[in-house]
Amino acid sequence: MCGIVAAITNGLDARASVLHGLKTLEYRGYDSAGMAVHTGDSKLAVRRKMGKIANLEAELASNALPESDQVIAHTRWATHGAPADRNAHPHTDDGGEIVVVHNGIIENYLDLRAELVADGHVFLSDTDTEVLANLIARHMRNGNGGIDLHTAVRTALTEVHGAYALVAMCATEPGTLVVARQDSPLIVGVGDAAHYAASDMPALLHLTRDFVALENGESAISHADKMQLCSASGDWIERETTLCDWTPEQAEKGGYPHFMLKEIEEQPDVLARTAFDRFHDTEGDVVFEDTFTLTDADLRALRRIRFMAMGTSSHSAMIGRWLLAEFAELPGETLNASEFLYSPILPENDTLTVIVSQSGETADSLRAMRELQKRGGRILGICNVQGSTLAREADDLILTHCGPEVGVASTKAFFGQVTALYLLAIRVGRARGVLSTERGLELLHDLRALRPKLDSLFAPEAMAAVRQAAAFLATVPSCLFLGRGLQHPIALEGALKLKEISYIHAEGYPAGEMKHGPIALIDEHFPVVVLATPDRTYEKMISNIEEVRARSGKVIAVGVAGDQQVQNAADYFLPVPEVPPYLAPLVNVIPLQQLSYEVALALGRDIDQPRNLAKSVTVE
Ligand code: F6R
Repeated sequence: MCGIVAAITNGLDARASVLHGLKTLEYRGYDSAGMAVHTGDSKLAVRRKMGKIANLEAELASNALPESDQVIAHTRWATHGAPADRNAHPHTDDGGEIVVVHNGIIENYLDLRAELVADGHVFLSDTDTEVLANLIARHMRNGNGGIDLHTAVRTALTEVHGAYALVAMCATEPGTLVVARQDSPLIVGVGDAAHYAASDMPALLHLTRDFVALENGESAISHADKMQLCSASGDWIERETTLCDWTPEQAEKGGYPHFMLKEIEEQPDVLARTAFDRFHDTEGDVVFEDTFTLTDADLRALRRIRFMAMGTSSHSAMIGRWLLAEFAELPGETLNASEFLYSPILPENDTLTVIVSQSGETADSLRAMRELQKRGGRILGICNVQGSTLAREADDLILTHCGPEVGVASTKAFFGQVTALYLLAIRVGRARGVLSTERGLELLHDLRALRPKLDSLFAPEAMAAVRQAAAFLATVPSCLFLGRGLQHPIALEGALKLKEISYIHAEGYPAGEMKHGPIALIDEHFPVVVLATPDRTYEKMISNIEEVRARSGKVIAVGVAGDQQVQNAADYFLPVPEVPPYLAPLVNVIPLQQLSYEVALALGRDIDQPRNLAKSVTVE
């Protein structure tokens, strides 16, 4: 949700490397993009363009910015003010002295703007960020020359309510960038005689792998050769850098036409990276890193487990709830994190809350976490981004090892989350004494045996079947996805993937619900995607297929390769390898991801950057 990149170097022109980083962050928003440089002669220069970064590049090609060793840039997901050149960041104050890029929402911006207008400030945009730039400028001017940029930023921020990650530059203070954050992500990258800032690590991997994450309320002054970190209370603090184990190649397309396709195909490796090194092959157990501090005694004392997440991550959370009940006999619930804040407050005794998030920066999930921690609850984070807010603030952490996920539609992150949840179920089941060593060993064996089986999902025959079904699905305005039990979250996920990248209306339902309403929609133009792999719901799913066909509805069925019953009943058949039923979600989700990809491709959609969406939703 808006991406920020900034660099300050020792005389090296930073425009190209900042632009490169900005493109890596385009998944965070693509309503407009802009760049500002310090020209070295006490002046700032800004270029901004509505639309994708490609539009900004075209603008820079015809109207170049001067070379500069001090550059800030932004890609926008519009909140305040429609997508337009004048609302694009960076924003300057009306004197052109301060320039700011910002991710977040300043909730009291209208009041602040009214005050500034009364003071004679002139506004050219509808944004909250222009208010910030003018506020900072007002404090600098009021300081009679005695206030530096950092002090002015910190003072301005005391008047602001809301969320921000920002980078500011001042015409009369060359060689300095000031960064600050509250409830929106911001990391500082440390290079050789250079410092950088960005919303997310992939933007800086081509420059450095050494990072310092800013905590809420903190700010920093960055020069090329040093960075001074300031606490919320105004004290100078020291913090070691952390080394990121992602590589720059992982954040590139690597010859694929889309990140989404690359990330779908990476899933077998995600299984290996997230699971296999954590197996305890003699105990039938799992060993997590020392970020997981829950002891056997802690796990035995639990009476309930709660899962919270948003979007795709909430679908993996639903599977987690099921697995913890099945393998650890621990009852629980899954809550939409944004709804949690409005639910009745119950005592937290003996409850563990698992927050699942790819980015670790989703505002709704973080707000729920903090509220629970205030109530004395314990949080286990399952997260893909080391150093993210969830990874830092959760009491315990399991990292998924998916590598950076760039496609806006989440695929491999879901796969990594479900894998981590299997491991959690095994660990909790073993600790609570409800899962024997033998059963634990079987489960580990099944997970290991899954990896080669996944290959058949990428074979030419499987892809041909997906493309055939996609060619048909691309012609309909609306459809239904049905699954029962563990396949219900996969039906929800299949429908979400389809609607977000193809813009075809799709709903996921527990298959048993079909007859309670949705069946009224079915006719020859309204198809149903059915998950019909063998488990205790199989017979019922066959009946659902027949019920759809009896009403002339077309059926796309996911079934085990060679299952004639499902294949004969369906109009389009997506074959999957047979696996133990509890592992079927990891298998069945893949053809549904491929299906939505192929439908979106057939319709010429912008697959990696679907309209209106942004990855990492950092506002509530
Ligand atoms: C859908 C998708 C979103 C995210 C949701 C939560 O493809 O990507 O629904 O799953 O915004 O994001 P994280 O997992 O980063 O908390």
